[in-house]
Amino acid sequence: MNTGGDEMTAETEYETLLIDRDGAVEIVTINRPKVLNALSQTVLRELEQVVDAAGADDSTRVLIITGSGDRAFAAGADIAELQALESALDGHRHSHDAHHLLLKMADLPKPVIMAVNGYALGGGCELAMAGDIILASEKASFGQPEINLGIIPGFGGTFRLPRLVGRTKAMEMVLVGDRISAQEAKELGLVNAVVPPDQLLDLAIEMGKKIASKSPAAVKLAKRAINEGLEIDGRSAADLEAVYFGIAIGTEDRKEGTSAFLEKREPRFTGR
Ligand code: COA
Repeated sequence: MNTGGDEMTAETEYETLLIDRDGAVEIVTINRPKVLNALSQTVLRELEQVVDAAGADDSTRVLIITGSGDRAFAAGADIAELQALESALDGHRHSHDAHHLLLKMADLPKPVIMAVNGYALGGGCELAMAGDIILASEKASFGQPEINLGIIPGFGGTFRLPRLVGRTKAMEMVLVGDRISAQEAKELGLVNAVVPPDQLLDLAIEMGKKIASKSPAAVKLAKRAINEGLEIDGRSAADLEAVYFGIAIGTEDRKEGTSAFLEKREPRFTGR
């Protein structure tokens, strides 16, 4: 796969993930191609380690998550593991643990770009929706097929999907269980862009680098304001935005950004 940069270096070893870096952009590849990158407990646990590490590392400014091979981003939770669950309590824990990761990803003060290279089904679709930007290859497809297994979405499909595509289409996807194409997902507002497969990672890296060139404080505040604002009423969201706007105005980067504009030069953001 073309990872698009000369400065890429290998990092920490994981059992189910491959990690690469292009400058401040970390690229995480879910690497279980034989089972279409199904999200086992190990994948979820390792993704959480990646998110924790990214949160603590100033040199990482953007995460990209993609899937290995040319067929799947992630074809859902690992069905073999689902089959082994024995009780309602096991099921609740399974869902709860995944939510813990996906909420942590939403709280990460750094954007997560999902580069959806193939099937994004069930937990794979839900993982994608927990990202901040979703880019899709023309070969990608999305769906919540849990109904075919006698279950319901458990990693956010019943609340993130309707927020992104509306109740009407979400209800159809969850009740009927059919897949939709990348193009349809784009028309529904589920994905930001659809590109040929060989351009997907390049676009994700280009977008990641562009975001990495901005003020980290402004990026963090913008992500928080949007995510938190969507969960509260409009008046409270306006109050919250005013608070975060004030914090942004208080940064050195704001002085640098506005001065650079007025002096007709590129800003040099420091994160202060
Ligand atoms: N969990 C575990 N294994 C999975 C999997 C999953 N979610 N999705 C696919 N696999 C495995 C298959 O069992 C198969 O393994 P095998 O080679 O040992 O038989 C391998 O991945 C390839 O999948 P296969 O079904 O043979 O490919 P296909 O091209 O015929 O179909 C899909 C592709 C994505 C349509 C089909 O694999 C599928 O429907 N997967 C399940 C999707 C799903 O229900 N996700 C929600 C889970 S909650």
